[in-house]
Amino acid sequence: MSQKGKSNQKKEVQVAESLADIQEYIKSKTKEIDDEIRKYLTEKTSDRYIKNLLGNSGFKFHEESIDKSIMEPIIYLLNMGGKRLRPIMTLLTIEAFGKRGDDFVEFAIVPEIVHTGTLIHDDMEDKTDFRRGSLAVHKKFGEDIALNVGDFLFFFPLGAVIDSKRIDIPTKYAIVSELMRTMRGLGLGQGSDLAWHNNLVEDVGSIKVENYMQMCYGKTGALTSFAMKLGAILAGASRDDVEKMGLFGGSIGVAFQIEDDILNIKKSALSDNKGGVGDDITEGKMTLMVIYAMNNASKKDSDRLLEILKMHTKDKKLIDEAIGILERSGAVDFADRTKYDIISKAWKSVEDILPDSEAKMRMRQLAEMIVHRSV
Ligand code: IPE
Ligand code: IPE
Ligand code: MG
Ligand code: MG
Repeated sequence: MSQKGKSNQKKEVQVAESLADIQEYIKSKTKEIDDEIRKYLTEKTSDRYIKNLLGNSGFKFHEESIDKSIMEPIIYLLNMGGKRLRPIMTLLTIEAFGKRGDDFVEFAIVPEIVHTGTLIHDDMEDKTDFRRGSLAVHKKFGEDIALNVGDFLFFFPLGAVIDSKRIDIPTKYAIVSELMRTMRGLGLGQGSDLAWHNNLVEDVGSIKVENYMQMCYGKTGALTSFAMKLGAILAGASRDDVEKMGLFGGSIGVAFQIEDDILNIKKSALSDNKGGVGDDITEGKMTLMVIYAMNNASKKDSDRLLEILKMHTKDKKLIDEAIGILERSGAVDFADRTKYDIISKAWKSVEDILPDSEAKMRMRQLAEMIVHRSV
């Protein structure tokens, strides 16, 4: 084997080892995270539980009604799996700043609960029938229930922060204000995405890579940024470091979304979970790959790609044709390169602020894992 071949092989072994390490860490934390979530979101509500949430009104909710309309759909989606990446990001950040993550799990679940709500709304908005390999919540329980449950999940975790006796008021203020910024970013990011796949933009050619990046930084990066800011705030980091961790987390989110879109057009565990290869083509999604192809493919190819995206088709032949255009335009390679560039650039900006530690090493591994995943 050539020297280059050997060094590539060595690199692959190193990546595999570091991925195994972070995967083991995630596995070891998942139960703790899930147990904490289930303390707040239970299958069966009780009068006491509701009074805890709302205070005493002198009246009483009909418990079965709350169980059926709120708890059942939430537990259904939670039980379908999910990687729990956002709480992992919070815990790793806390540890990277020298505190014990395990002391803050009750706060680390905040971004996960909001994330669960965004998935429910997103599947309605995108008309996606499957999530985590099962029927999406709106398909299983109806759109009215799904809409309401999503709203509930956006606001629900704030209570745990505001009512906590374990953190002081400035810390609560910092968390709540970051969460509000996150929700604004999510809304604007989703709005841009919806405008694009609903063909609301007159000149699609005016949508540039930087617009795509900002859209992703909103719809996906806002929550991953929050997850890391939350960890840094809880660990008592300086404002400057909180901002830097937020930028790192947000960039990881953008790289994560690019990988998500690449996996969607391939046979992968991710595309299987969503009901098949290329459901993003059916959705008409403007991914980074589509934007690249629009600017770099032949006019014939790019016109045809846009034509197929506008059809919102489920026809496998047309979906394959669109994927073929993306591949031969070099868009998939471009997206692959871009996700690595984003991760390396983002890492450089936080590398210096974190002291060397196991958590820092795992944070680097997490960034690698995000762009090497299959689901
Ligand atoms: C899915 O996020 C939505 C995107 C931001 C692409 P995840 O891939 O983190 O979803 P789960 O929680 O693991 O199912
Ligand atoms: C991801 O949206 C962001 C949110 C869920 C808010 P997408 O629509 O791009 O992600 P998938 O493909 O449905 O997971
Ligand atoms: Mg979607
Ligand atoms: Mg979407």
